[in-house]
Amino acid sequence: MTFNRKDLLGLEDLKSSEILALIENAESLKEISQRDIKKVPTLRGKTVICFFHEPSTRTRTSFEIAGKRMSADTVNISASGSSLVKGETLKDMARNLEAMAPDVIIIRHSVPGTPHLLAHTLKTSIVNAGDGAHEHPTQALLDLMTIREHKGKFEGLNVLLVGDITHSRVARSNIYGMTTMGMNITVAGPPTTIPPFIERLGVKVVHRYDHLIPECDVIMMLRVQKERFHRPLFPSMREYSKLFGLNLKRLQKAREDVLIMHPGPINRGIELDPAVADGPFSVILEQVTNGVAIRMAILYLLCRGISEK
Ligand code: CP
Repeated sequence: MTFNRKDLLGLEDLKSSEILALIENAESLKEISQRDIKKVPTLRGKTVICFFHEPSTRTRTSFEIAGKRMSADTVNISASGSSLVKGETLKDMARNLEAMAPDVIIIRHSVPGTPHLLAHTLKTSIVNAGDGAHEHPTQALLDLMTIREHKGKFEGLNVLLVGDITHSRVARSNIYGMTTMGMNITVAGPPTTIPPFIERLGVKVVHRYDHLIPECDVIMMLRVQKERFHRPLFPSMREYSKLFGLNLKRLQKAREDVLIMHPGPINRGIELDPAVADGPFSVILEQVTNGVAIRMAILYLLCRGISEK
């Protein structure tokens, strides 16, 4: 089992063996973060640039920590602190960054396809840290790692993704990854938040989900991304929360080994009741912990590929 690519752009075209290779590497690297001295020399001499054109807490910090734990030199650039604000094009900026010989560039951008454009333009490895509403592959990989830690398998698990599917790059990457791994996926949300023809990706669609709760192995709640709405998609947040929010009453019908997941950031009291977010079935902070391990594995496998060329 191996992962031997120049870039990590999405889960749409990853094989199950590649997903497993990334997760198994992350499982072995996770232990480094539990040591007293959380540092190994594996990526000494490698340079990783994180360029985030959209806000981030988890992804940016965990990529930086992942690089530092393996002794890579990590550099952070934000859109507002770059020469993009002086009119430089993204391609020019990327070529100039490449001229400084980084090994990996991690990019988050509001425009879908931006990481793919850079991957075609540059010889440097590119990692997609979220491109608009398209894909967020490293999030889906850490989600899959967390599920495997608890369930010991993927095949046949029933997963419910609830929320604003249209604007969710997390949903899209998880749908690609989970179907590849043989999981059964149902998406739930108001009709205005479900993309047309999404069934073609191999998922079922419902607009009420209470009846499905007893058979779920995993319930993944998604953030209502108001910043991506061009017009209101439902009458009010109060109504959304009443119909689609996961609360203790709804959770009473769940299996005792159900996993409650959320990629973060959470709108507390909207998609998740705080008692559920912080309750015994929640693995939300475990997802964040596994995010460091998955990103260590990605940097390691991409840099190893570079060294072997
Ligand atoms: N899940 C996620 O991408 O979180 P951030 O936006 O904080 O990186």
